[in-house]
Amino acid sequence: MDGNPQYVLDFHREHLAGLDLAGQRVLEIGSGYGELIRIMLEAHPDVGRIAGINWPPLELPDFGPKADVSGMDAGDMDFADDSFDVVCSLATFEHLPDLTAAFGEINRVLAPGGLLIAKWSPIWSGFDGHHFGPILSGPGDAPIALPWAHLMFDRESLPGYLVHGEGFTHERAEDAADRIYGSTWLNRYTVHEYRAVIAQSDLVVDRLDAVRCDFGGMLTSIGAKIAGGVLNPERVARFFRSRDEEELLAYKMNARLRKPGHGSNSDVQSSPGEGRAVKNGRYRTRTCDLAGVIRFKSTR
Ligand SMILES: C[S@@+](CC[C@H](N)C(=O)[O-])C[C@H]1O[C@@H](n2cnc3c(N)ncnc32)[C@H](O)[C@@H]1O
Repeated sequence: MDGNPQYVLDFHREHLAGLDLAGQRVLEIGSGYGELIRIMLEAHPDVGRIAGINWPPLELPDFGPKADVSGMDAGDMDFADDSFDVVCSLATFEHLPDLTAAFGEINRVLAPGGLLIAKWSPIWSGFDGHHFGPILSGPGDAPIALPWAHLMFDRESLPGYLVHGEGFTHERAEDAADRIYGSTWLNRYTVHEYRAVIAQSDLVVDRLDAVRCDFGGMLTSIGAKIAGGVLNPERVARFFRSRDEEELLAYKMNARLRKPGHGSNSDVQSSPGEGRAVKNGRYRTRTCDLAGVIRFKSTR
C-alpha cells in the first residue's frame, strides 16, 4: 500500500479495515484517482465488488475484474435500488452541491441494513473551510493563515485583507476570492446544515461526529494578525458573537449511518446495542435486537 496518500490509508485503517467485506458490494462516492479502491482491493481480496463514482468522470487505469469506476453524480446515480452493502466516501461531501439528493440516492442504492461510512473536511463553517489551508492549497497558492478568514470577510473585503494582511498579489487575492465565494467547487454547508440534512434523510445514525479544532492555536494565529495591525479586533469579536460553539469549532465530520432494515449483509453490521439515531430532527436512543428489528425510543 506504499505510495498511497496517508489520509486515505488512515481513513481505511480507522473506518473500513475492521469490516468483514467478504462477498460485499461496496460503492465509493467521489473516488477521485482510485487510491481507496486500490487499498480496499489489496486489504479485502474476498470483497464481492467495488464500484467507484466520480463527477466529472476521470480517466483511470483498469482495476481488474472486481472494481470499476464510472462518471456519475452522487445526486443522480444509475445503480438499481439496494445495489450495495456498504457506501463509503472520503473528502467529498463538502463538494456535493445537493446533499439532500445525495443522501436520498445513497439510501436508495443501499440494501436494507447497509452502511454509509464517510469522512469529510474541511467543512465551510470550519476555520479552514475556504480550502486554502496550508495542506490543501494548490501549486502556486499561498495558504491563508487567518482562521475563518472566509467568514470574517466576504467577497468584497477578503481580497483587500489578503493583500495587506497576508502579502498576496492583487491578482492572486481576487482569484482566491472568486474560488472561495463564487465557484461550484465547494457546497458551503455549515455543520448545522449537514446535521439537518442527515436528520431529514431516511438513514439512521450509528455515529455522527463533528470534530473540533484547537481553539487555542487558532487564537494565537488571530492574535498575531491583530498585533500586526492587519486585523481589527472588533471584526473578530463580531464574528465570534455570530456563531455558536459547534459552528465555530467543528471542521471535520465523521459519519456512520445505516439504512433501516435487515439485509443479507449481516457481516458488516455493528454489534447490536445502543446507538444514537437522529430522525426528523429529534434524537432518539436506538436499540437493535438480535432479529435486527430496530426500535426507536424517543428520549426527548
Ligand atoms: C477532494 S476530492 C476527494 C477524492 C478522493 N476521495 C480522495 O480522498 O482523495 C473530491 C472528489 O469528489 C468528486 N465530486 C465532486 N462532486 C461530485 C458529485 N456531484 N458526484 C460525484 N463525485 C463528485 C470530485 O470530482 C473529486 O474527485
